[in-house]
Amino acid sequence: MGLVAIIGGTGLSQIDGFKITETRSVATPYGDPSHHFEIGRYADHPIVFLARHGNPHHIPPHMINYRANLWALKDLGVESIIAVNAVGGIRTDLQLAEVVICDQIIDYTAGREHTFFEDRIEHIDFTFPYDPDLCQQLAAAARQLSASMQEFRFSATGVYGCTQGPRLETAAEIRRLSADGCDVVGMTGMPEASLAAELGIRYSGLSLVINKAAGLDNQSISLDQLQAVLDEGMGRIVELLKIALKTLA
Ligand code: HPA
Repeated sequence: MGLVAIIGGTGLSQIDGFKITETRSVATPYGDPSHHFEIGRYADHPIVFLARHGNPHHIPPHMINYRANLWALKDLGVESIIAVNAVGGIRTDLQLAEVVICDQIIDYTAGREHTFFEDRIEHIDFTFPYDPDLCQQLAAAARQLSASMQEFRFSATGVYGCTQGPRLETAAEIRRLSADGCDVVGMTGMPEASLAAELGIRYSGLSLVINKAAGLDNQSISLDQLQAVLDEGMGRIVELLKIALKTLA
């Protein structure tokens, strides 16, 4: 398992109960990461935490320096990543505040700096973008949490559609993503997952559904109004991470 990094997304800029012993700024050949790295112990497991959008939250999804973030994590000795993402739900059974442990991804982004391999020919295998072992361990932790917290809902599989943003999608785009097989839609899954793969870091994700995707419930989406779902859901994710880290140890 090795050193685990948690990359916090919208709604998760810090983790309550995380004992930080060191903060480290890391320079990379690709520029500056989103924020400094917090190093310490959570649930008695050594972790590194990074706020993907900075802290306070200010970097939009398409402006995140994914290459610097991943390069720095590798430099810090991270071997496994649990990425946390707020997403819109597409699959009809998904409820608000449900956690999806995605096992596949479809990339709809454009124009992002998305590879470390610019001056040599290298084609990584990306058949399974999310590490199957990590996914299984997250699913086991989720089963454990749902046994003690009745309101906790999760899906052990899912396809993450990653859009470019920062705008939300049109209703037709969501119909297309649905037809493509996407279960959730977000803006930060890529190129994070493939850059991790390029560096040989095991990658997994917890996607928190904070809204129904565009056109699915006949109303416009205001992400600012979703704070309550975000707070509640991230609280559950923090619990889930605690259980997961215990079993990973
Ligand atoms: N679309 C894209 N990204 C998102 C959404 C959405 O509906 N909700 C949260 N992140």
